[in-house]
Amino acid sequence: LAEARAAASAAADLPALYRAIEAFEGCPLKKTASRTVIFRGDPANRVMLIGEAPGRDEDIQGQPFVGAAGRLLDLMLAAAGFGRDSVYITNVLFWRPPGNRTPEPAEVQLCLPFVERHIELVDPRVILLLGGVSTKALLADPRGITRVRGQWFAYSHEGLPAPIPALATLHPAYLLRQPAQKRLAWRDFLALRMVNRGDFDP
Ligand code: URA
Repeated sequence: LAEARAAASAAADLPALYRAIEAFEGCPLKKTASRTVIFRGDPANRVMLIGEAPGRDEDIQGQPFVGAAGRLLDLMLAAAGFGRDSVYITNVLFWRPPGNRTPEPAEVQLCLPFVERHIELVDPRVILLLGGVSTKALLADPRGITRVRGQWFAYSHEGLPAPIPALATLHPAYLLRQPAQKRLAWRDFLALRMVNRGDFDP
């Protein structure tokens, strides 16, 4: 963890952070993953979506949310008025857990210094947390995702200059299994859009 912290805080800009993550050997998931998966989209948009971990398709293609869950995510974003490239998408883990198992809390903690530095360098106007793993990792709230979804939080960590509005929502992979829940996530995407446009202040 100390090693991740030192490497993350030494990164002065996004390219340096990407290199530091690629070079980090401290996470055991890296040994079984075929590649490091960090982001897609333009950070200049300042709308940051944070998911869980790469799955099989992401591990092959090297970008987050490019499989079935990603296709649903792109559809929901488009329907809420976001273009495919108008958001910046990442995960709390940069390597695929074997067989897409749920990541261990210790694995998430190990990557957290990189995730926090990532947020500092992207400097998003709003953050959307996709699913329970990223929500638990970043919000100090012990309740499950079905309880906290739809609520705005003032995201912060030590060293962040000012809190950032963050909304938790259901993970698109969960929505593929529970399509009736899409209407809840849909509300969250519309709220994200309104806050991003300045139409309401959470
Ligand atoms: N699920 C995630 O949480 N992230 C991805 O990148 C793909 C699927």
